[in-house]
Amino acid sequence: MNNHLFLDLEDFDTSNLKHYFLNSVLPRFWDKIQLNFCSFVHDTTKDSEVEKLSNFLQTKYGISPIVAYSFFYLKDHKHPIHIDGYMKDGSYFIRNANLNLVLSGHEGCKMRFFNSGTENILPKNGVLFCDPEKVTFLNEFETTEQWTLVRVNIPHDVINENENNVRIVISFKFKDNPSFEHLETLFNGRS
Ligand SMILES: [Fe+2]
Repeated sequence: MNNHLFLDLEDFDTSNLKHYFLNSVLPRFWDKIQLNFCSFVHDTTKDSEVEKLSNFLQTKYGISPIVAYSFFYLKDHKHPIHIDGYMKDGSYFIRNANLNLVLSGHEGCKMRFFNSGTENILPKNGVLFCDPEKVTFLNEFETTEQWTLVRVNIPHDVINENENNVRIVISFKFKDNPSFEHLETLFNGRS
């Protein structure tokens, strides 16, 4: 389904990268990650597995390099509805799209998308939070174990319907903040 909100990339091999993050990265940053959100700037000299992924995406699809990644931890509740953003050179920008990989706990989780006017948006700590009373449901998808390209420049959240489930997702961000449509076109041209 081509809805320009999410794109499942089920034909990527995720095993090496999942193993790396679950066994080498999560144990080192577990305390931080359990605070719900934890973000890293990609360091090409240290993150060799991330660099491999970045090079693969550039070579195969022509996608710009990975510049950062974040972990999101979700248990027993849902994320607030929000729009992603980032700071650069002292200015705030809305982020367009992320490449997501659920490391654990995808079962029973849905990502939802909403419409909203900017007058309903409340900025706080670099994220634009939206008034849930003033957004209109657009679409949703059940998260899988595979890669998903997701639009993050409109209101969205994740709900976890299984209270025993801990969802951990890693979210990769690309240099120069390419649009969802541009990334979708590049991924759809895959051979
Ligand atoms: Fe988000």
